[in-house]
Amino acid sequence: MVKLVIIVLIIQLTMSGVSPACGRAEYLIGQECCPMCGPGYYVRRHCTEFKSTTCLPCLSSTYTDAPNGLASCKSCTDCDSSLRVKRACSSTSDTLCEPLEGHYCTDPIKDGCRGAVEYTKCSPGQYVNQTGTASTDTVCGDCVGDTYSNGSFTSCRPHTRCELIGLVVLREGSSSDDTNCGQKPNTVAIVAGIIAGVAVLAATCLLLS
Ligand SMILES: *[C@@H]1O[C@H](CO)[C@@H](O)[C@H](O)[C@H]1NC(C)=O
Ligand SMILES: *[C@@H]1O[C@H](CO)[C@@H](O)[C@H](O)[C@H]1NC(C)=O
Repeated sequence: MVKLVIIVLIIQLTMSGVSPACGRAEYLIGQECCPMCGPGYYVRRHCTEFKSTTCLPCLSSTYTDAPNGLASCKSCTDCDSSLRVKRACSSTSDTLCEPLEGHYCTDPIKDGCRGAVEYTKCSPGQYVNQTGTASTDTVCGDCVGDTYSNGSFTSCRPHTRCELIGLVVLREGSSSDDTNCGQKPNTVAIVAGIIAGVAVLAATCLLLS
């Protein structure tokens, strides 16, 4: 019984004309339906029984992107510091922003972006597996085995094998650094020393003879 009373009350309220349904291109003001202003315009004066809605164009840096009954245009968005302007604001559309170079979007909206962050920098010992895009971060991978990368290579490089190029290891390679190769210690010095010694001896013998 209580339920029935409530339902009847709701039906009565709905049909009492408290909210007259306006047409698609109209807005409700008080009890009246007024024609909306078009995109790029706002309502200066509501319609009356005798006169249609008075509309004015949006001032600079403001816009309306749809038919509206707004008393003022909306302010154009300023792109965040991580973003740059992709399409400037007009009286009929808000600013569109896109990530700055080296950034990817973390808050995408239709055709644009509201916030971006800088790409992850791969650390020494890691390589760049996937370069970042406007919507995805850089993907790093670890160097394993006898390979290395300084953090900006796109793949890990094998350590130089000193013995293959007739040199010896001065410092072992790591995941972030190549092997450091050098001359075999003293080979050169020994040879040079012997030559010098022989020369000095020969000169001495010549002088004394
Ligand atoms: C590197 O990228 C490939 C292909 O996109 C993927 O299969 C692999 O798992 C990635 N490796 C790492 C360490 O993210
Ligand atoms: C890694 O090495 C490359 C070329 O050898 C160089 O251009 C780059 O600046 C280096 N990157 C870092 C992070 O040291």
